[in-house]
Amino acid sequence: MCGIVGVLGNHEAAPILVEALKRLEYRGYDSAGIATVNDGILDRRRAVGKLVNLSDLLVHEPLRGKSGIGHTRWATHGAPSILNAHPHQAGQVAVVHNGIIENFRDLREELATAGISFVTETDTETVALMTQRYMDEGLGPVDAARKTLSRLDGAFALAFLFQGEEDLIVAARKGSPLAIGHGQGEMFVGSDAIALAPLTDRITYLEEGDSAVLTRTSLEIRNADGELANRPVKRIRTDQARVDKGGHKHFMAKEIAEQPTVTGEAIDHYLSHDGKTITLPEPGLDFTKIDRLSMVACGTAYYACLTAKYWFEQLAGIPVDVDVASEFRYREPPIPARTVALFVSQSGETADTLAALRYCEGKADRIVSVVNVPESSIARESDLALPILAGTEIGVASTKAFTCQLSVLLMLALKAASDRDMIDPEQLADLLSAFRNLPAQLDAALEAEPQIAKVAHKLSEARDILFLGRGLMYPLALEGALKLKEISYIHAEAYASGELKHGPIALVDKHVPVVVLAPRDDLFDKTVSNMQEVMARNGKVLLITDSDGASEGGEGTWDIVRLPAVHPVLSPILYAIPAQLLAYHTAVAKGTDVDQPRNLAKSVTVE
Ligand code: F6R
Repeated sequence: MCGIVGVLGNHEAAPILVEALKRLEYRGYDSAGIATVNDGILDRRRAVGKLVNLSDLLVHEPLRGKSGIGHTRWATHGAPSILNAHPHQAGQVAVVHNGIIENFRDLREELATAGISFVTETDTETVALMTQRYMDEGLGPVDAARKTLSRLDGAFALAFLFQGEEDLIVAARKGSPLAIGHGQGEMFVGSDAIALAPLTDRITYLEEGDSAVLTRTSLEIRNADGELANRPVKRIRTDQARVDKGGHKHFMAKEIAEQPTVTGEAIDHYLSHDGKTITLPEPGLDFTKIDRLSMVACGTAYYACLTAKYWFEQLAGIPVDVDVASEFRYREPPIPARTVALFVSQSGETADTLAALRYCEGKADRIVSVVNVPESSIARESDLALPILAGTEIGVASTKAFTCQLSVLLMLALKAASDRDMIDPEQLADLLSAFRNLPAQLDAALEAEPQIAKVAHKLSEARDILFLGRGLMYPLALEGALKLKEISYIHAEAYASGELKHGPIALVDKHVPVVVLAPRDDLFDKTVSNMQEVMARNGKVLLITDSDGASEGGEGTWDIVRLPAVHPVLSPILYAIPAQLLAYHTAVAKGTDVDQPRNLAKSVTVE
C-alpha cells in the first residue's frame, strides 16, 4: 500500500525524501508528494503518477528545508489526483498516511458541524484538519497529534510535520508498519527499513498502538496506553537493503533469475550439513501432536498453500484446509483441537492474513507463519515464524518469494512426514538429496528462457488464455494465470485439467491458447487426454513438460517448452520458472509496466 517517509536531517530534505520514496514506490505509484519546513514555513509539492513526475516538478519548483515528510500513494479513498495526493495539509499541519481511517466519515461530520470544510475526498485530510483544530483550541503540536490519534479507528501509519517546527516529527503505528531510523544527529521514519537503508542501519520498529515524537537527537515512544515505552534499536543487514536491478531490465527479471540462489539458501537454512536432518527454529513443532493444519494466505501465497496441501496430505497424512484470508476471517470457522494454523505471507503485513491470524489466537494449538520479512507483524505475532530468506522482493508480481515459500513448506511437510513415521527413511533421503539438487535444476530451467520468450510473443496477441494442471500442477496453473493477468493484463483463467469438460471447455476455440503444465508423472496420461479434448476443438495447446512428456504427448500441440526432468514432488518449484517467464515475456512483448502493473501494490495493508 502507500509508503511514507520522514526526515529530520542536516542536509536538504527533498532529495533524501525522493530517494527514500524510490525505495518505497513498490508500495503504490498512483501519486507522490513531499512537504518540508524551511525558515519555519511549511510547504509541499505533489504530482500524479509515478515518482518521476514529482522529481520533475521539484526541478522546476524546488522545495528547501532540512525537515520533511513524503508519500507514495496507492489510492483508497479518492481518485489519484493532485488534490487527493499526500501530504495533506491543514493550516500548520501536514500529514502522510498509509492505511485506512475507518471512522473518517464520523470525524468529517464532526468537523463539518464545527464549520470546517474539506478540499479532498480522502480520509487522511480529516487527520490534518482534526490536529489543526486541536491546535486552534490551544494544544501544542505533539498533544494535538496525540489527541487526534486517540480519535482514529482503523489501520494506519502516520507522520506529522508542523509549520514553525523544524526539529519535530510525530509518528504513529496501528496496523501498518513503521520504522524509525537513527542517524548521527539526524532522525528518520519510514514504512520499512529498506527505505532508510542508505541513511542508517540502526532501526527501531514501532509496535502496535505506539506513537513517537522525533527530534534530531531524541526519540520518545509511548505505547497504546500512553505510557513511555522502550523499544530496542536493531541493526539491519545492509545486504537485505540492496534494491538495484543488478543489470536486468526489470526487478522481476532479476528476481526470477535469483531463484536458484535464494531457494538454495532457504534449503540450506533448514537442512543439516549432511543433508539428512530438517531443523526448525525454536520453539520447533512436533507433528505427532497435530491432527490438522489450517493454512491461510492471499494471492500467490495462497497458491503456495494450495500446493503445500498436496504435500502435507500425501507425504505426511495430515488433513489440510486452505483458505483465502479475506474469506476465512469473516467466516468464523471452528478450529478443532490439535490444529496448527499456518499463515503464509511475503510481506508479513497483509491486512487480511494478519486479521485471520488474530482470529486463530487462543483457538489454534499453535500459530505458525512462513514469511519473508522477519520483523513483520505476522512474524512477530506467531508462536513460530519460519523465514523464507528470499531477500527483498521489489517486483510487484511475486516470484522468488513464491518458490522460497514452496521450498520452506515442502521442508515442513517432509519434517511432518518424518515426525509421523509416514515416510520410509530411504525415500526421505532420496527426496532430500533431490531437494538439495533443486537449485541446479532451477538454473537449468532458466535456460528455457529464450524459447519461452518466443512463445510469449505469440501469446501476447491473445485476448484470453487458459491454464490447465493436474495434482501438484493445478495450484501452479492458478499461479501461472495470476502472474500473466497481473502484469500483461491478458485475461487468464486456470482449471484443474479434469474440470475442463465441466464447463470451461465451452471457451475453447482457435483463438484461445491453452497452457498445459504437465511433467511426465503418474497423472501425465490423464492430462494428455484433456489436451486431446482441447485440440479436437481447435484449441492451441502450449505444453510445458520434460523430454519424455514432449515425446509422449507433444504431437499436435501448438508449441512445447522443455524442462529438465525433476523428482515429481519437487515439480511445482521447477515449473514455477516457466510460468513466471511466460508472464514476464508476454508483458514485455505487450510493453506493459512489468514491475509496477496498474492498480496493484505490493504489501496490501488494507482489507
Ligand atoms: C501476486 C502477488 C500477490 C501477493 C498477495 C499476498 O504476484 O504478489 O498476490 O501474493 O498480495 O501478499 P503477501 O505474501 O505479502 O501476504
